[in-house]
Amino acid sequence: TLFEQLGGEAAVTAVTTQFYANIQADPTVANFFNGINMADQTNKTASFLCAALGGPKAWGGRNLKEVHANMGVTNAQFTTVIGHLRSALTSAGVAAALVDQTVAVAETVRGDVVTA
Ligand code: HEM
Repeated sequence: TLFEQLGGEAAVTAVTTQFYANIQADPTVANFFNGINMADQTNKTASFLCAALGGPKAWGGRNLKEVHANMGVTNAQFTTVIGHLRSALTSAGVAAALVDQTVAVAETVRGDVVTA
């Protein structure tokens, strides 16, 4: 699975931590996370990604369409955020083909997150 190829839960969590660091350093998308506990956010998104990438534990959290409703995320903002995931994967030394496949999995939630 992609989960295994990335190096399992610890590796996915490390990439997710860097993903949110990149987001928080980008003023075009950082404000969405004002007041959000980023440690919890990192753990939830890492759990979601582990499941989506073929890991052994099913996602036990909320439905992503309900979670992101009313945030007003645009397609352009989503694309920006996906770029931050791509950078996090690349800076972790993940091979280009595996980066592309992992980004493609994250892209599957675009329709649940984008509402504007
Ligand atoms: C939750 C924003 C993209 C997965 C949240 C929350 C915010 C947020 C503010 C916290 C909601 C709350 O606790 O009240 C955004 C923005 C995105 C984006 C602005 C893109 C522009 C994504 C992507 C994924 C994702 C690409 C998955 C790959 C999650 C998960 C939660 C969450 C798993 C927690 C769900 C739960 O509470 O069970 N998002 N998100 N988000 N987001 Fe996103």
